[in-house]
Amino acid sequence: MEKSYIQIPLRGIVAETVPDFDLYIFQAGSYVLYRKAHYCFDHDTLAKLVDSCVESLFIAKPDLSLYEDYRQRVLDGQPGKSGVLSYEGLFVDPDEVRKYYQIVDNFFSVEDESFIDGLEVDFPVFHHQGNDVFILPVFAGKEQGPWVLSPWALPADGELMIKKEDLPRYQAFLENKLVASATGETPVKRKAVLLREMSKLLVQGLLEDPSSSEAMKKLSNQITEVVGFILDNEEGFYGLMRIQAHDFYTYVHSMNVCTLSVALGYTIGLFKSPDLEMLALGGLLHDIGKCRIDPKIIHKPGKLSLNEFIKVKNHVKFGIEMLKESHDLPAEVLQVVAMHHERLSGGGYPLGLRNGQISLFGKIAAIVDAFDSLTADRPYKKGISPFQALDVLSKTTTDYDMDLMRRFIFLLGRQLGSPQNQQAG
Ligand SMILES: [Fe+2]
Ligand SMILES: [Fe+2]
Repeated sequence: MEKSYIQIPLRGIVAETVPDFDLYIFQAGSYVLYRKAHYCFDHDTLAKLVDSCVESLFIAKPDLSLYEDYRQRVLDGQPGKSGVLSYEGLFVDPDEVRKYYQIVDNFFSVEDESFIDGLEVDFPVFHHQGNDVFILPVFAGKEQGPWVLSPWALPADGELMIKKEDLPRYQAFLENKLVASATGETPVKRKAVLLREMSKLLVQGLLEDPSSSEAMKKLSNQITEVVGFILDNEEGFYGLMRIQAHDFYTYVHSMNVCTLSVALGYTIGLFKSPDLEMLALGGLLHDIGKCRIDPKIIHKPGKLSLNEFIKVKNHVKFGIEMLKESHDLPAEVLQVVAMHHERLSGGGYPLGLRNGQISLFGKIAAIVDAFDSLTADRPYKKGISPFQALDVLSKTTTDYDMDLMRRFIFLLGRQLGSPQNQQAG
C-alpha cells in the first residue's frame, strides 16, 4: 500500500532539536526522505531549506502523534514564552510567527550608541525584546516630538528599533551628528559607530526596492555582505572616516560607488573574493585624494575655472600618494583610484590612457562614478534621474566600455523598475 504523508510547516521544526520521525520533502512529483529520525536538525540544515525557499516539510502519516509530542516538548522547553525562539522564523506558535514578520516588515534595527549622548530626536524609538516591540517610556504620554533621549532612558538589553517610515529622519539625524562630529570633540570610537550606522543606511537605501525580484534581493544581500566586509577592514574604514571628516558629499558618493561597483561586478560574473573585495575597497577609496583639495573648490556652485579644474584633477595623484604612503594595498585597488577618470577615447585624466590600457576595475569605476556624480543632489544642484543619467552615459559611446554599460543598465533596470515609474529630477 502506498505511504501517505502530512504536510507540516518548516517552522514547525525547530533548529538544534532532534525529531524522532523522518522528514520528507516533495520533489519532482514524489516524496523524498530528507532527514532521518534521531538526527539533529541543525541550523545549517534549516538555512539550506530556507535558501531553497522550502516552506513545508512532510512526515509519514503514522508519525503524526510523534510530531505532536515533539511540538509539545519544544513548547515545554520554552517556559512562559509560548514556544517563541529568538530568530530565523523558528516560532512554533503561528501567531508568534505573524507577529515576528510584522516586526521585520515595519521596524528597522538601530544602534544604541547613536543615542547615548542625550539629544533630541524627532522620531519615536522602540525597544525590541523577545518577540515584542514597545515604545520607550520616555515617549509615553507625549504624542508629538521632539523627544529628548538620555543614556538612562535606554534599555539595558534587547535592541532598539525605529519604524521604517522614519528611516529618512534617522538618516538626517545621523548626518547632522556626523557633520558636527567632524569639527567637534566626538571621540573616534563614537564617530566610527555613527559612520558605520550611516553607511549601513546608505547601502540599504541604494539597494532596497520592495518590488525587486527574488534574484535581486538575494544579490542585494551579497552586496551588503561584501560592502560590510570592507567596512570592517581597517584600511577601508579609516579611509572612509578621513573622507567623511573632510567632505560629507564625497563620503556619500564613495559609499555609492563602492556599492554600485560591487553590484556591477556581480552582474558581470565576479562572484569570488578577493576580486569583489578589491573592487569594493577601490570604490570606497577612489576619491580619497579630495581630502587634499580645498573644500571651497570641491563645493563650488557652478562651473570651475580652468585653474580650479586643474587642482581638482590632482585628487587622483594625491589619492595614489596617500594610499601608497600609508598602506600596502593590492595593485587592483590602486588601479581603481588611478583610472576612474580615464576614458576609452584617451580623453580622460591624469594619463589619457586608452581602452586597452585601462583595467577592468578602472572601467567599472568610471561608469559607476560618472553615474553617481550625475544623479547626486547637491545643495546647489539637483541631480538628474537615474534613467536620464543612463541615457546620457550610454550616448557617450567612445568614452565608456559599452558592454559594461549594457550590463549596468540591465542591473539598474532591474533595480529601478520601469522608466514610466521614474520621476524626472
Ligand atoms: Fe574622482
Ligand atoms: Fe568620484
